[in-house]
Order: sequence, then C-alpha cells, then structure tokens
Amino acid sequence: MDFLALVKKRRSCRAFLPDAVNTEQLQLILQAAQLAPSACNLQPLKLHVLQGAALEQARACAWLYNAPLAILLCTEDDKAWVRRHDGENFALADAAIAIDHMALMAAALDLSSCIIGAIKLDPLRCALKLPDNEHPQLILALGHADPSAEDKVQLHDKRKALTELTCYQA
Ligand SMILES: Cc1cc2nc3c(=O)[nH]c(=O)nc-3n(C[C@H](O)[C@H](O)[C@H](O)COP(=O)(O)O)c2cc1C
Repeated sequence: MDFLALVKKRRSCRAFLPDAVNTEQLQLILQAAQLAPSACNLQPLKLHVLQGAALEQARACAWLYNAPLAILLCTEDDKAWVRRHDGENFALADAAIAIDHMALMAAALDLSSCIIGAIKLDPLRCALKLPDNEHPQLILALGHADPSAEDKVQLHDKRKALTELTCYQA
C-alpha cells in the first residue's frame, strides 16, 4: 500500500468488536513508536499496554469507548529536549509523533484505533500507580472496528481545504 493510501485508511474508531489484538500485532505497533523520531533522539516516552483490570481502571479515567486494548503514552518531561533560548519542552511533540506512528501501523495491520486526549490525569496516575516523573499525554484505543456501528462523531471527512491550511512564502 502506498503511504497516502495508508494515511487515508486511518480514521478514528469509536466502536470496537471484542476481538483481541494479537501479540504479534501489538509488538509491531509498539515498534512503530520505538522508531518514531524525537527531538535530539531523547525518546522521553513510556508506553503502558493496558489490558484486563488495568484497562478497566483506565476506562474509568479516560474515554476509551469499548476498545479491547489501549496503549497509554506517557512522557518523562525531565528527559525531553528543552529548547535553550526559550525553554520550550518538546515532550508533547515527541508523544504526538509516536502515537501517530502507532495509529498508522495499526491501520497497516487492518486494525482500528482512536487517539484519546480526554483523560482525567490525576485519577489515571493514581489508578495505574504511575511514577511521579511520568506525564500521561495520550492514549491509543485499539482493536477491530465494529462494522455495524455508526461513526458517532463524523468528523473524519471535514478536512480544511489545502488552500486554507497552506501558505507559500518566498
Ligand atoms: C491529540 C488528539 C486528541 C484526541 N482526543 C480524542 C478524544 O479524547 N476522544 C475522541 O473520541 N477522539 C479524539 N481524537 C480524535 C479526533 O477527534 C480525530 O482525529 C479527528 O476528529 C479527525 O478524525 P479522524 O481521526 O477520523 O481522521 C483526538 C485526536 C488527537 C490528534
């Protein structure tokens, strides 16, 4: 599949079948995050694979729909690149790239996903006993799409025109 076709294939899924994501698929998705670029290659990331009781605890703190698996992406902000002249910390940028790599890998494996930012941070930290230096940033809800469910949000096709997004400067 060419890259643009893969990018077009990925879309947020908010209704999943109960079918499991297998270990091989999960490893490939985690590898995609491992290979994501990060500022100064500092890789300030921790990937928590949430299943079983941990997944249910996370579901109480984040809008994970009925995904049978989720990957919580935390950053160790103290290990991220900080731009010296203005103090900008790039942890969230690193996390965003890694989660998109995973979402695209999932699509390449015919799995579906949804990136979730609607997280109650402190309850999640507490439920999963996260270390103090880990900052929960985003969760990838993962699984097989339920083909019988309607897209509840229907935002996917509402793309701004390239002319609105782009400006050329010379
Ligand atoms: C940083 C980020 C946070 C998001 N958080 C949520 C969320 O909490 N819940 C949700 O249902 N979708 C969430 N989304 C999915 C977006 O709503 C979705 O990407 C957007 O509507 C475009 O649709 P598409 O992913 O199908 O192309 C998030 C996406 C991103 C990139």
